[in-house]
Amino acid sequence: MLPKPVDVKVAVRGSVPSDADAVAVIMTKGSTPTDLPEGIATTVAALVKAGMATGKAGEAVVQLLDGHKPGRLLVIGLGKAKTLSVDEVRKGAGTAVRAAKPRALKEISIAFPEDHALSDEHLETLPCDLTARWLVEGAEIAEPDWDTYRSERKDLSVATLTVIAKDGEKSTKEEIEKGVEEGLIVARAQNFARSLVNEPGNVLTPTELARRAKAMCVEMGIACETYGMEKLDELKMGAFRAVAQGSAEAPALIVMTYTPEGGTADGAPVMGLVGKGITFDTGGISIKPADNMEKMKYDMAGSAAMIGAMRAIAELKPKVKVIGVVCSAENMPDGKAFKPGDVVTAMSGKTIEIINTDAEGRLVLADGLHYAKTLGCTHLVDAATLTGACVVALGYNNVGLFSNDEETWAAFMAGVKKSGEKFWRLPCTEDYREQIKSQIGDIMNSGGRAAGAVTAAMFLKEFAGETPWIHLDIAGMAWNEETKPWLPKGPTGVAVRSIVEWVRGYGE
Ligand code: BES
Ligand code: MN
Ligand code: ZN
Repeated sequence: MLPKPVDVKVAVRGSVPSDADAVAVIMTKGSTPTDLPEGIATTVAALVKAGMATGKAGEAVVQLLDGHKPGRLLVIGLGKAKTLSVDEVRKGAGTAVRAAKPRALKEISIAFPEDHALSDEHLETLPCDLTARWLVEGAEIAEPDWDTYRSERKDLSVATLTVIAKDGEKSTKEEIEKGVEEGLIVARAQNFARSLVNEPGNVLTPTELARRAKAMCVEMGIACETYGMEKLDELKMGAFRAVAQGSAEAPALIVMTYTPEGGTADGAPVMGLVGKGITFDTGGISIKPADNMEKMKYDMAGSAAMIGAMRAIAELKPKVKVIGVVCSAENMPDGKAFKPGDVVTAMSGKTIEIINTDAEGRLVLADGLHYAKTLGCTHLVDAATLTGACVVALGYNNVGLFSNDEETWAAFMAGVKKSGEKFWRLPCTEDYREQIKSQIGDIMNSGGRAAGAVTAAMFLKEFAGETPWIHLDIAGMAWNEETKPWLPKGPTGVAVRSIVEWVRGYGE
C-alpha cells in the first residue's frame, strides 16, 4: 500500500504556524543557530549552552516550549558544517519527522536552514530551491513505517510539514515553493517504488507488478503496455523466458513510454530505463540456502526504481523521450525450470550457457537491454539487485556503478550531485571478459567467485553493445536493515532520484 503523503506548505518567517504541534530547528555541529523564528531563539541558545543540543548528525533534542504554541521544539543535528552536503540536509529533515512520529506530533514546521545552519560557502553550492527540495524529500522519505500488514498499529503519521522561510535576497518564496514542489514529486515517486518493494512475493507477482505499473501510468497520463509469456516467445527472448518458465506465475514484460509534449526532434536522445523485476528469487534449481531467503522478495527493487522514476518523469515533464522496460518473473525450481548446462538463445541471437540458475537477473536484463535498443533507446540505464558480490565489495553504503561510456558516466554523476545518493564506479574492462567465455556457447551466465559484480556487469555489457550504458548494482542498497534516525527499516527506493536527475539532464 502506498504510504500517506505528508502535506507540505511554505510559510514566511516570523509567522510560525500556531496550529503546529512542534517546530524543528536544524543546526550544524558546534554552532548556535541564529536568526530563528520568534519565541524559540532563547530556548535553542539555552539548550546549546547547556550542552544538550550539540548538532551532531542524527541528534534530535525534544523540548517543551512552555506556554507557547507550538508546544514542542525539536533541535536536530546535521553534523559538521565542513562536510555538509545534500544528504545531510535531507537527513536533518528526516530526523525531525522520525522524532515527531512516536510522539504523535502531527503538524510540524521546520525553519529553513539557509541562515542559521548553512555557511556562505554552502549557500553558494546549495541553491535555495534545492535546499527546500532536500528538506521535503528527507521528510517524505522518513515518514513511512512499512507496517501495513500489522493488525494493531496506531496511525502516528506526520500530516503536515511547514517550511518556514524568509522571503529575501538569498531565497525567494517562489524559489522555495518550486523546490518544495519538485521535492514532493520525486519523494512520492520514491515512496511509490518503496511500496512495491515492500510487498511480499505472494502479493506482488509479476502480473500484479504489471497491473500496478499500468495503474500508475494511467494515473500519470503516460503510455504503458504489459505482456505475458506469448510476447517473450514472439520476441524470441530466450534468456528471459528461461528464468520465467519454472514458475506457475506468468512473467510480465512492462513497457512504459513518456513522450514530451510536441514530440522530439529526429536524432534526439531516447532514454531507456531497464529494471530487474524478479518478484521472488529462490535461486531456481541452483537453489539458495534457507537463511535470509525471505529477503529475496526485494529482488524486484531495480524494476520498482524504474517504475518510480517513470512516475516522477511523467510529472516533471522533461523535454526528452523516456522508455521504461521492466522484465519481471519469479525464479523457481520446478519440473519445467531451466537447468545448469542448458543453452538458451537471447533475443540478440547470442547463445548463453547456463552455469547457475541463481544468476537469473542478468538473463532477464540481457533481453530487456536488447529490447530497449530495438525500441529506439540511445542511452541505457539498468538497475538490479544483481549480485551478492557487490554487497561484499561495497557493503551498504554505495551502489555499484558500471559504464561503457565516459560521457554518459559523467552525465550520470552530474545528476548524482543533485540527488545526493551514493555510487561507486567499478571496472568493466575487456580483460574480465575471459571469465565468462563459454566453451559450449557464446557466453556463460556466471564467471565464478572472483569479481562477481564485475563479471555480472560484463555479461550485461555484451547486450548493451555499442549503446552508452550505465549499470547500477543495488543489491546492498535496496533494503535498509537497521533503523536510522532519518530512515525506517525496509525498502529504500534507492536510485529513483538519481535516474530522474540523469534523465532531466538530457531534457535541458
Ligand atoms: N538476487 C541475487 C543477488 C542478491 C544477493 C541480491 C543478496 C540482494 C542480496 C542474484 O540473483 C543472485 O543470486 N546472484 C548470485 C550470482 C551468482 C550465482 C553468480 C550471487 O550473487 O550469488
Ligand atoms: Mn539469483
Ligand atoms: Zn536475483
